[in-house]
Amino acid sequence: MVVTSTHELEGGTVSNYDRKSELKEFDDSKAGVQGLVENGVTNVPQMFYCEQSSMNDFSVNDSNSNVSIPTIDLTGIHDDLVLRDEAVRKVENACEKWGFFQVINHGISAHVLDEMIKGTCRFHQQDVMVRKEYYTRDPNKKVVYVSNYSLYHDPAANWRDSLGFSMAPNPPKSEEFPEVCRDIVIEYSEKVMVFASTLLELLSEALGLNRFHLKEMGCAEGLIVLCHYYPPCPEPELTMGNTNHTDNDFITILLQDHIGGLQVLHDDQWIDVTPINGALVVNIGDLLQLVTNDKFISVQHRVLAKHIGPRISVASLFRTDDESIVYGPIKELLSEENPPLYRDVSLKDYSTQYYAKGIGTSALSHFKL
Ligand code: OGA
Ligand code: NI
Repeated sequence: MVVTSTHELEGGTVSNYDRKSELKEFDDSKAGVQGLVENGVTNVPQMFYCEQSSMNDFSVNDSNSNVSIPTIDLTGIHDDLVLRDEAVRKVENACEKWGFFQVINHGISAHVLDEMIKGTCRFHQQDVMVRKEYYTRDPNKKVVYVSNYSLYHDPAANWRDSLGFSMAPNPPKSEEFPEVCRDIVIEYSEKVMVFASTLLELLSEALGLNRFHLKEMGCAEGLIVLCHYYPPCPEPELTMGNTNHTDNDFITILLQDHIGGLQVLHDDQWIDVTPINGALVVNIGDLLQLVTNDKFISVQHRVLAKHIGPRISVASLFRTDDESIVYGPIKELLSEENPPLYRDVSLKDYSTQYYAKGIGTSALSHFKL
């Protein structure tokens, strides 16, 4: 079935346009947004037009541009109790107020971070015939190159391509990795898992729990690594690099290059997450908000499209792999003054609801008591 929709164009002209076939043609090219750029595109195709693009958004307020998400230094936390306690308090404050923070001295070397960005760049910039081999929408594949995970469901496509790896608990076989980034993806994943363990300890302590509590709940058992590539955009005001969304996981650890464009919604304002060389950005996902009974918040974020680029980022998403596990507010956190806000929910039900609402909107409200 061909769905033909009517869209208002700039200047009030109305055109009949066959969105479905534009999407399909784009998807069938298996070359991503980078393929459009390689072909010298000078206008953003209509399928990328976004109602929430910066052109239509008046919530950005310059008077708030001096506000920024907290930066937390983890130097010394493994052998100095005072420094550790200080870090725990900062983590607690950041998770309650922002749902986002940057971390420096996290234990992953600048060299590994640089190589991970470079490896991502090599994959997306290699010959289209090689890239194409990895392009798929098969949810069972452990290595997936695709542009826009939910292309056919979203109201607007994003100006972004992604290369995703399902790294834990069962990583791809060595030969399944693209050669241009195999070694660094494996090395980076090992290191980011070590950092995630440390983070879960700090988060557990910030909740007043035993330091292994979140780890024992399985919060970092599953790891998906998404290597995003945001090509330069000829008309960035018409589209988005990544539409407003919250993350459907426990925690996300994000590596971004120096280009910028990531923003976080804080007190109804979009605040820039300014790139800091060597830092990692951490954010709370919907599932951690659920189990902490809203003490820690999963907040909306987005990536603006830009004239300059490419911008590269690597998002490591931690969640359990087993869809049958049931999560609810952690019992130790509940009391008469802090009654449970959510009912218990299986990951499967949570994901179904998350996707039913369309990527972006947290599905948490659906499970509120
Ligand atoms: C994500 C995400 C932000 C970025 O992958 O969920 O929010 O900077 N990425 O790419
Ligand atoms: Ni995200």
